[in-house]
Amino acid sequence: MTLRNTATEWGSVSKTFHWLMALLLIIQGTLGLTMGDFSRETRMELVGLHKSLGVTILMLVTARLLWNLYSRRPAFAPGVTSLERVLAIAVEVLLYALMFAIPIAGWLMSDYGGRPVSWFGVFNLPQLVGENHDLHEVWEHRHEQLFWALALLATGHACMAIYHQVVQRDATLSRMMPKGWLRDPDNK
Ligand code: HEM
Repeated sequence: MTLRNTATEWGSVSKTFHWLMALLLIIQGTLGLTMGDFSRETRMELVGLHKSLGVTILMLVTARLLWNLYSRRPAFAPGVTSLERVLAIAVEVLLYALMFAIPIAGWLMSDYGGRPVSWFGVFNLPQLVGENHDLHEVWEHRHEQLFWALALLATGHACMAIYHQVVQRDATLSRMMPKGWLRDPDNK
């Protein structure tokens, strides 16, 4: 397996970015939705972890975008229609925009709340804006709305991948998996 994508295959770097980010986003979403249910002390620790993971996601999505400039997307698997190609690209662009927008909205929300964002205590993100209670509420709401948009789009995206595996029986999903984990259904 190559590090870079080829004309027809995803390379190991793109696959690692894809599945690592998918896993982090699931952990991050679960944390964001449940951390409010814990006692104050545990909640503060979980909020700190949530912010650190948010900064990690921001760093990873930047690295992933730069990698994409160096290693271009392979052509779609044979059998994917032109409409599906246009929709898939549109969804991928939106997913990238949201992977940036959600942590940035969280960053603004924290700054407006007067609580800076730290990355595992190693460094703090620069403060973008001063404390403002009303704008803290506005950005909290936006952070959550953007998360639900991502959850919806990522679910649709994952369902399409499974549809291609089970119904269309092409290589769309198998070629994004680590080698040997999933067979191309009809070896197309
Ligand atoms: C179980 C969940 C998921 C499945 C089954 C899945 C499946 C896939 C597959 C099969 C491809 C390759 C499409 C092709 O070759 O034409 C792909 C690409 C992509 N997926 Fe997912 N995906 C999942 C979750 C996510 C999540 C959570 C995100 C981000 C929020 C995401 C973002 C992307 C992006 C941006 C691409 C384009 C390739 C790239 O830039 O790395 N996926 N996905």
